[in-house]
Amino acid sequence: MTRVRGTEGYTEQSQELFDLYDALEFEELHASILSLIPKPPADILDIGAGTGRDAAYLAGQGHRVVAMEPTTALRQKAQARYADSTITWLDDGLPDLKSLQDKPDKFDLIMMTAIWMHLNIAERERAIPQIASLIKPGGQLILTLRHGPIPAGRRMFEVSGSETIALAKKSGLQIRLHLEDEFSLFNRADVTWTRLAFSR
Ligand SMILES: C[S@@+](CC[C@H](N)C(=O)[O-])C[C@H]1O[C@@H](n2cnc3c(N)ncnc32)[C@H](O)[C@@H]1O
Repeated sequence: MTRVRGTEGYTEQSQELFDLYDALEFEELHASILSLIPKPPADILDIGAGTGRDAAYLAGQGHRVVAMEPTTALRQKAQARYADSTITWLDDGLPDLKSLQDKPDKFDLIMMTAIWMHLNIAERERAIPQIASLIKPGGQLILTLRHGPIPAGRRMFEVSGSETIALAKKSGLQIRLHLEDEFSLFNRADVTWTRLAFSR
């Protein structure tokens, strides 16, 4: 099967990355946007859900959560790790989100944590209208962008907050929060993060 573009390197390092990502705490990682998360029960999509850490936290709060993760090795570990959770898992990815094409206006919140910079510009342009169409009017998109050296074997691009804001605006998403220089929870001085929150 053709590998979803952007997932390069994740299968090969799945155990190591799973342990690293799953050790993070949702409330610490997302401290800057905790107040934007809707009250449960909301419909939430986590794209590139990785270990299921965020999906499981949100499901545990009473949300209806769909977690999309195209790297099979990560998704299978995540499903085992959070077997007791109500998360619905999808084997799918950006830019086309094929499994959700018949679900317009479905989600109150879409999260894309540490994944958007895995897409090239053509893929980002193709994906954003589809992502926007899945958000309910008044719903939100919250994402992070990584800046720093690209890990060996991974496919990553330098993507700015301003480019992402301009792209999202074309699809009817208005910027609500823009933070630069969020620090790395892995204590990496050479890595910083941009945080963006949009509403439709
Ligand atoms: C840095 S990890 C972040 C995982 C998780 N969101 C977290 O915060 O721990 C990036 C994730 O994006 C996924 N990914 C890569 N390319 C993707 C694509 N085209 N569509 C959806 N997910 C993708 C990878 O498989 C990986 O799980």
